[in-house]
Amino acid sequence: MNITMVGTGYVGLVSGAGLADFGMHVMCVDKDAERIDKLNAGEIPFYEPGLEELVSRNVKNGRLSFSTDLKTAVNRSLVIFIAVGTPDDGSGQPDLSQLYEVGEELGEIIDDYKVLVIKSTVPVGTNRRIKEMIQVKLKKGLKVNIVSNPEFLREGSAIEDFMRPNRVVLGSNSQKALAIVKDIYRGLYLIETPFVVTNLETAELIKYASNAFLATKISFINEVASICEKIGADVHQVAKAMGLDKRIGPKFLHPGPGYGGSCFPKDTLAFAHLGKTVGSPVSIVEAVIEVNRAQRLRMVTKAEDALGSLQGKTIGILGLTFKPNTSDVRESPAIDIASTLLSKGAAIKAYDPEGMEEFKKAMGDEKISYSSTPYDVAKGAEALVIITEWNEFRSLELKKIKSLLANPVILDLRNIYEPEIMAELGFTYFGVGRGITKAAQ
Ligand code: UDX
Repeated sequence: MNITMVGTGYVGLVSGAGLADFGMHVMCVDKDAERIDKLNAGEIPFYEPGLEELVSRNVKNGRLSFSTDLKTAVNRSLVIFIAVGTPDDGSGQPDLSQLYEVGEELGEIIDDYKVLVIKSTVPVGTNRRIKEMIQVKLKKGLKVNIVSNPEFLREGSAIEDFMRPNRVVLGSNSQKALAIVKDIYRGLYLIETPFVVTNLETAELIKYASNAFLATKISFINEVASICEKIGADVHQVAKAMGLDKRIGPKFLHPGPGYGGSCFPKDTLAFAHLGKTVGSPVSIVEAVIEVNRAQRLRMVTKAEDALGSLQGKTIGILGLTFKPNTSDVRESPAIDIASTLLSKGAAIKAYDPEGMEEFKKAMGDEKISYSSTPYDVAKGAEALVIITEWNEFRSLELKKIKSLLANPVILDLRNIYEPEIMAELGFTYFGVGRGITKAAQ
């Protein structure tokens, strides 16, 4: 089967390459000619483990190609997946302009029956609006059907999530379109992936409700962590014991500097907005958003607790991406934390294995000195703050780090080290939800 994938961002590229691996012939289309040239030259525009191999394997076997030519791709495809970005428009609402632009173009191009599968995360009602928009532009007698197929890929493990999803959600009011899309995913039946087949609005809401719920777990455990710090409890043991209750589950109960990324911050805002718009406010999600904002700032308070005034102090940051195994810094807690540290007069040295280029772009003119190793960051710094739990930060040579730091203070915002061991090594160590451990005198 021939498929067009519109958009070569995380979702589009991973899904396009994944569908090619399932045996489909996929043409990935993007209006960004430079990006397409790079993809044709074998360059992947972002870091995602395993993606380069998956793309190159399917390009070689002739099932995956890249083009800027939407018309040619659409003409030869029965199914068109749309995975263009719907970033925050600056007011907390998803900006749907890219999606509508593609819809307009498709209305003019389509000359036969097509199934449009929307993967982009969109506010409830958008799939139906896109269908109406395209339908009025089509030549008389032509028809398209829409399927909402929200993605649940996690950056860093996107390929695994695509190949072995927890579930596939398909929303449509057309049995024919559903049958066609189910056939595309038939490989997943072999591994008994559950399929939830429903209407458009339900599929759209499933995505928001799922992400908002996961974000709620994170904000919840972050508030528990704050209480732990006050009363001398250990948040990891609390989370572990909570998670052993099968009704709660152990995942997404890891405390930290707050959630970030391209999904949770945007989706929680959009979900809260939806609630208000339809007259059913989701106060829990509104609180989750507020707790997450406060959590980032609370991390800076930890630095002040450790160092007093930050004016003129040099702080080393390890980890700039919103999570490990990605180069993505969108809504990364490191952006808020670094900006607040700078506004309080601190100087910053930073290192990230994959995210430094993106971080430089995100911070604009802000003065940060970038280092090529964690040890360069530590050199002369008055505190070392670990913001992202990259594997290479889990096995630092701590004695060396201590000898390089001007002050043996570590703020471990992902709790990757054990407080007692850090104290034995002579650090003043701050975790999240585990109290402060001072070096043995
Ligand atoms: C998320 C969803 O998991 C995925 O299903 C959805 O479709 C897209 O959004 P992603 O943004 O890649 O995926 O990252 P995820 O692993 O979910 O983490 C999101 C944020 O929460 C990260 O900043 C992470 O550090 C943070 N997090 C996650 C915690 O702070 N604690 C946890 O226990 C889990």
